[in-house]
Parts: sequence; C-alpha cells; structure tokens
Amino acid sequence: LKDERESLMIVSAFAQKYFTRTLWEENEGRTIGLSYFRERGFRDDILKKFELGYSPDGKVPFTEAAQRQGYKIEFLEKTGLTIKRDDWLRDRFAGRVMFPIHNLAGRVIAFGGRILKDDPKAAKYLNSPESEIYHKSKVLYGIFQARREVARSEKCYLVEGYTDVLSMHQAGIENVVASSGTALTSEQIRLIKRFTSNITIIYDGDEAGIKASLRGIDLVLEEGMNVKVLLLPGGEDPDSFAKMKGASGFLEYIRENETDFIQFKTRLLLKDAEKDPVAKARLISDVIRSVAVIPDTITRSVYIKECSRLLGVSEEILYTEIRKQKYKQN
Ligand code: CTP
Ligand code: MN
Ligand code: MN
Ligand code: MN
Ligand code: MN
Repeated sequence: LKDERESLMIVSAFAQKYFTRTLWEENEGRTIGLSYFRERGFRDDILKKFELGYSPDGKVPFTEAAQRQGYKIEFLEKTGLTIKRDDWLRDRFAGRVMFPIHNLAGRVIAFGGRILKDDPKAAKYLNSPESEIYHKSKVLYGIFQARREVARSEKCYLVEGYTDVLSMHQAGIENVVASSGTALTSEQIRLIKRFTSNITIIYDGDEAGIKASLRGIDLVLEEGMNVKVLLLPGGEDPDSFAKMKGASGFLEYIRENETDFIQFKTRLLLKDAEKDPVAKARLISDVIRSVAVIPDTITRSVYIKECSRLLGVSEEILYTEIRKQKYKQN
C-alpha cells in the first residue's frame, strides 16, 4: 500500500512536469494556456511558484506521453489523470489550465483544471477524484506555499478559490490557503492549527460566501482557535478585488475591514433586527450560539463582554442564554 501511494505520487509528479513544460514550451500551451494566465494578470513568478500548467486538447496526448515514458495505465487511472472505460481512454483534463495541489511536503497529490472559456454547460473546474494519496476533506490548496509565512505571521487567510490564493501571493500576502469551494471541514482547520491559531476568512462577497463564512466561524471556534472575517463588496472575490484595487488598495482594505466574528455576525444580522425585538432576540441567540462553542472559558468571557457592549444586553443575560443553549446541546 505504501508502494502504491508512492507510485501515485510519482505519476502525479510526472504529470505536473509535463503540464508545466507544455505551458511554457509547447506552441499550444503558450498560445492558449500561458496567454490565458497573462490576460488574467498573473505574473510569471506566480505561475512558476505554483507550478501551474496546461493539459493539451485532444483525446489522449497526455496519457500517450505518460505511457511512452513507461507509466502504467493502472496508476494513471487511479490518480484520475486518465479516464478508462472498457474500450477507450481519455485525458481527464484535456484543454484546461492546470493547478497542481501539493501536500505539506510539497509533493503533488491532485489537480484542479480550469476550462478556458466559461460555458454554462461545462464545469468551470474539474478536480482529481479521491485516491489513496488525495482526500479532499483533509487538504487545503496552497498550504505548502503558505506554511512558513503562516507560522511567521501567526495568521492564516482562508479563501475559496485557486486564483484567490494566486492573487494574494501576487499582492505580497503569502499566508493564505483555499478550501477550494468544498464545505470546510474540521480536518482542514486542524491542518492550519499546526501552524497558527488565528484564521481570517475572506470568502466571496456573495450570499454563498456569507453563508459559508458563518459556517466556517463555528468550525474554527470549535477547534479553540480565533477567527476574524473580511467581507468583500458584493460580487467580488479576493482575486477580482485585488485586480480592481491594485495590491496596495487591497492591503489597505484588509487592514481597515477585518473584523472579529462577533462584529461580523452582529453587523450582518443587526440590519433586520434594529427595530424588531423578536429579530433582535434571534440575533442574540445566534451570536451566543457561536460563543457557546468556544472551549476556553477565559476566551469565552472576553467575547461575552464584547457581545454585551455591541448588543446592549447585560453579561448576566448572555450567560443565562449560553447555559440554555448548552442544555439544549446535551
Ligand atoms: N470549484 C470547483 N468546481 C467548480 C466551481 C468551483 O471545484 N465547478 C472550486 C474551485 O476550487 C474554485 C472554488 O471552488 O477555485 C471557488 O469557486 P468560484 O468562486 O466559482 O471560482 P473562482 O475561484 O473565483 O475561479 P475563477 O476566478 O477562475 O473564475
Ligand atoms: Mn487512504
Ligand atoms: Mn464563489
Ligand atoms: Mn470566486
Ligand atoms: Mn474568481
């Protein structure tokens, strides 16, 4: 089994090198893949740092190249790089720009592949299937490139997408990882916890992003970590926003708008709650639900003070509310 994992990693390493060489050296890769990245404003050093690539269009150009080098179809299939049916083979990622996903040691364990022209009938991103080396609920995109800076700065930014990670690096922010669109898991949070206890969530500024942030907040708190949130203007994600504002404008926005989770929740919910006592009660119980999951009692008491101030409710009442919720949970 250890040998099999090693074989899958060796095939994945070959594939990454093949896709990267195609991007930089082949005519098709340069005119289609490299132009795509450049039109989106990504610098060459960022493309190289993340080992991005291009998978040539056609039925099996990659699979044939791999077979010529002696890679077995068994492992090409198990990594999902090749799709195999009874009587045919096909390159999974044909015609897509490639984002290799690295483990903590920097080895390639999977890929995301982006379509070049947005098309409502086709998936924008295709991802490698689960395999012996790739369990998507345990992986964060960019962790290998981020881990030093996360430890040094004692902070990790959490974004949704591949290109959000690239753009933040390009703006000089290197302590960033992506959940890659999937629902965040506690295993992913614990991966960050190996390097820092402080997470700032910067999800897309749309309804899905806000919902996911609220879920993320509670997951981070449950692990006993600290969480802040940065809300982007409607419709923007860190990539589009960084390109709109430029690096310095983006950095300034982060500095000025990062808020702790209580302020985030309160502001979000206070809009409807201002004049409606029923809605306000719901808001209080909602914010308190997040506070109640914090394992450390001292941290919890600090947040209760802040809630009390922001919501205009006595600490005593908030403690009573927490006891009620704990009672409900058990
Ligand atoms: N995603 C995916 N499959 C899709 C759509 C999205 O796996 N069909 C994942 C990708 O990891 C993507 C992330 O979810 O990066 C966030 O999705 P989205 O915001 O839609 O894409 P962006 O990252 O903004 O991609 P781009 O800027 O290239 O459009
Ligand atoms: Mn396994
Ligand atoms: Mn999105
Ligand atoms: Mn996005
Ligand atoms: Mn985007």
